[in-house]
Parts: sequence; structure tokens; C-alpha cells
Amino acid sequence: MRKSISKTTKFKFLISSYLEKDFHSSLFWKGRVALYSILKAIGIKQDDEVILPAFTCVVVVNPIVYLGAKPVYVDIDPETFNIDVGKIEEKITSKTKIILAQNTFGLSSNLEPIMEIARKHNLWVIEDCAHGFGGTYKGRKNGTITDAAFFSTQWNKPFSTGIGGIAVTRNEELAEKLRRLEKEAIKPSVKEELTLKMLLFVRRRLLRPSVYWSALKVYRQLSKWNLILGSSQGYELEKPVEPKDFLKGFSETQAKEGLKYFEKVNGKYRIDLIIKHRKKIAGLYKEILVDMGFEPPYEPEYAEHTYLKFPLLVKDRKKFFQLAQEEKIELGDWFLSPIHPIISNFDLWNYRWGENPVAEFASCHIVNLPTHDGIDENYVNRVYEFLKKNRDEILGCRVGVTSNK
Ligand SMILES: Cc1ncc(COP(=O)(O)O)c(C=O)c1O
Repeated sequence: MRKSISKTTKFKFLISSYLEKDFHSSLFWKGRVALYSILKAIGIKQDDEVILPAFTCVVVVNPIVYLGAKPVYVDIDPETFNIDVGKIEEKITSKTKIILAQNTFGLSSNLEPIMEIARKHNLWVIEDCAHGFGGTYKGRKNGTITDAAFFSTQWNKPFSTGIGGIAVTRNEELAEKLRRLEKEAIKPSVKEELTLKMLLFVRRRLLRPSVYWSALKVYRQLSKWNLILGSSQGYELEKPVEPKDFLKGFSETQAKEGLKYFEKVNGKYRIDLIIKHRKKIAGLYKEILVDMGFEPPYEPEYAEHTYLKFPLLVKDRKKFFQLAQEEKIELGDWFLSPIHPIISNFDLWNYRWGENPVAEFASCHIVNLPTHDGIDENYVNRVYEFLKKNRDEILGCRVGVTSNK
């Protein structure tokens, strides 16, 4: 009798073929575990240095520190919110091994000059595509250009399996090591899978923009207290010490959820329709901002921006969040700090406040508008009214660029 193929195998196959023919992918519990596995496969060890943008999530920094390596931060470009390519070389030392390039909010970093620098100094380039699944750089899919890349399929990412991570590469040697790590990984427990199923159910049935703020507060608080399977558990935000069960694998529950995004609707993958929707909503926000006299987010020629989030800088973020909550307007808070959401004890992650002025300014003033499939034109009109009413609070969509007039 023929053995049936597992959902995980099917999902992996679909991811690989979506990105590029014969591309390798390995699946893990979270994006951060996929990054950890890539770092391990490359052989990152004590005292190696990894260059990364100073505008990221602390869970990206953690795996670097878990392996004894040193995160070295580079300021971001004020228009793209991605690593400032012109500032990379001054941070390279004899210990540097990797440059990590991010797809912030769905926009690829400018990879060609980054890879040029990497070639010159014999470094690896890893792409953090947690925000950028489905986007492109010079016509090629994000994740297929650098030595290796990883995706996140956590709740508010381009497509979601609840939580989840994918490591990809075309380098056969790395692929073999990733396969081994995938096999070694701890299997998610029955309790974890059940919790994930319950959370997926709640999200599908109960989450509406009207309950966004209260649901987010409850979920984050429970995760912080380590009471629920969270995107980030409290202990990950306290200090960068590797938990004993960190290298965890992907489950059939996650694969089942992921497969839904690769079903075809009118000949198109559902994930592509979601990306199309995000770009359409972003287009409407752009019109609003231009109409209000602001420059829209920067869209370089080299990349297709998929707008996982639509960036907006405001004068007083605390006040702006309060105003949004009162009017039941959904707003995101990426990134609250250069190593989101850390706001103290930066030195534990080798971050020194004051070194990256653009990222630090952005992290004190940025909010983002949602583009997910729960957002329609009526909702965008409500956002328009809200923004018009609070126009004096808005700085624009790019650091230091306030007006198009
Ligand atoms: C830029 C970026 N990279 C990586 C990650 C980590 O992904 P995951 O939550 O799947 O570990 C995040 C976190 O959400 C992120 O914002």
C-alpha cells in the first residue's frame, strides 16, 4: 500500500516550488528557530560577529547571542527602514561572518550592493523575510537571492500558521545541515498543538477590528506571563539565554493551516490574492497621505513592496495610540525600539542607545496601518477621517521627509 504524504511534506514542497524550482526548505516551530538553524548550519560560534539592522525584533537577536556570537547593529536608511548599505563596511571586522538583511514591512533590502560587500569580505548573507513572503527584488522572489533566508508564519505575517518558521537555501551543503537540524528538532507536544488549534479557532471566529485592542492586550499579557503559547514568551524578553527546548520542529497542525494559502482560487494561489489585497489597501492609504500633503512610503525601483504594514510616523506615539483606541482604529506598534519590544537593559543584547539615530528616531515615532484581509474600503475611509482629524499629529511616512508640498 502506498504511504500517504504528510501535510508537512506537502507544505514544504509547495513552499519550495512557489519560491523557485528545486529550492530547499526546512520547517521549524518559529521564524527565530529557522534563523537559529541557519546560523548553526553556517557554523556560527563564540565571538563571531553578525551584522544586522538596528530596527528589528529582539527574537532575531536572541539566536545570535544563544550561539555565543555578537550582534553588531547598523543604522537604517530613513526612507526604507532597512539596513543603511553605506554604513555596513565600517562595522566589518576580522570576526564578522554574516550580514543579515531584512524585508522591513514587506520591502526588500537593496541586496546587490550588500552581496557585493559580502563577496569582498568573504561573508554570508542571510535574508530575514519574516515580513516579505511573496515580494520580489529585481523580479526574483524574496528569499531566493542570498545564501540562505528565513520566513515567519506567525500571526500577523504575510500568511499565518499561528506560529511557524521556514529556512530556505539553494546551497546543497547548508541544505543538508538544515535537514539534519530539522530531524534533530524536538517535536511540539500534544498540549502545544492543542493550544495552537484553539488559538487558530479563536482568531478565525472571534477576531474583528472592533475587538482588536482588547484581544491584543489579553494575548500579550498571557504570553508575557508564559501562560499561553505566545509569539514571544516573557523569558525571551528578559535576557538572551537559550531555553532548553528552543530547537523545535513544525507540526501537522501548522502545515494544515499553511496549506490553505497554497490552494488555487480562480487559478491563483490564495497567498497571492492576499498580497494583491495588501497592495491595494496600501495604494488607498498612499492616496490619502498624498491628498493630505505627505510623501507616501518610498518605493525603490529594485523591489516590489508587499506592504505587510503601512508605516506612518507621528509626533507623539502614546497620544496617537490613545486616540486610535478611542475611535477603534487598528494600529500596529512595530518597532517600539531598535530591538523591539525591549526598552531597557539594552546592553544584554549588545545594543548601545545613541549609536543609531535614524533607527532610534523611527522607533520612537512609528506606528503602522493594517493591510490584512479584514480591512476593506469602508474601513480605509474611517482611517481617512481619523487621520484628517488628527493631521497635526502626523510627521509622514519617511524619517525626515514631512511634506510633498
Ligand atoms: C523582522 C522580523 N524577523 C523575524 C521575526 C521572528 O519571527 P517568529 O516570530 O516567527 O520567530 C520577527 C518577529 O515577529 C520579525 O519582526
